Amino acid sequence: MYQIVRKEMLQSNIVLMEVEAPRVAQHCLPGQFIIAKTDEYGERIPLTICDYNREKGTVTIVVQTIGAGTERMMSLNQGEALEDFVGPLGCPSELCLEENLEETKKKKIVFIGGGLGTAPVYPQVKWLHEHGIEADVIIGYRNKDLIFYEEEMKSVAKNLYVTTDDGSYGFHGNGCMQLQALYDEGVRYDQCVTIGPMIMMKFVSELTKKLEIPTIVSMNPIMVDGTGMCGACRLLVDGQVKFACVDGPEFDGHKVDFAQAMARMAQYKTEEGRAKLAYEEGET
Ligand code: FES
Repeated sequence: MYQIVRKEMLQSNIVLMEVEAPRVAQHCLPGQFIIAKTDEYGERIPLTICDYNREKGTVTIVVQTIGAGTERMMSLNQGEALEDFVGPLGCPSELCLEENLEETKKKKIVFIGGGLGTAPVYPQVKWLHEHGIEADVIIGYRNKDLIFYEEEMKSVAKNLYVTTDDGSYGFHGNGCMQLQALYDEGVRYDQCVTIGPMIMMKFVSELTKKLEIPTIVSMNPIMVDGTGMCGACRLLVDGQVKFACVDGPEFDGHKVDFAQAMARMAQYKTEEGRAKLAYEEGET
């Protein structure tokens, strides 16, 4: 069992959980994910690692309720435990590998996080910061009330740009518009990393293709085993089938077939809705 040592509500439907998982904490790197299960009836939920503390042996995840499984997980309190916490899974971010450090140091990097995607951007920017690389960060939300992780991000980013769709805080617009505005001011980047809703990553990738900025996206499709066996997380990247859980989760955003990936995600929407309804009605 994996005890929740800290639980913090970031928003009414977004919770941060710091989980005691020493073996995962010992080996994980930014960009990787875990698969968690609340209890024996719980579904397997893939979650990107948002922070880790090797000394304390803890891993931080951020969960948003989108269905019955995440709602059940969110109902756990500090001191309670998750049944399963498997990881680290997937490949670490290429930018956060010691062997690539010299190459990474030459790049001017911008991260674009949207909504929940802001959280997994943090460990990457933090890792780079700790290794002497200062990256710019754009984080976007629908409105001021939905902002979270701003202070954390400020502490590790070179320049932090916060955007809101309704203009209630920071730049009025989204991450794409902020990037375009910076570009129009003459700011140039050699690398973009974007994490967030698939539709956002698609639009960022379209823009960066136009601006000729190589772009990494972090794909988080439906996953089952997380080990490359079931095929649930398959994607088309440059016309080839890839499994997000073992070949990713990070891919070249200019080569991902977003239309196909989004169509696959949509197939599971109804099932999620049914499971949520059953959970709310007290069924397991
Ligand atoms: Fe099964 Fe990736 S989750 S192959």
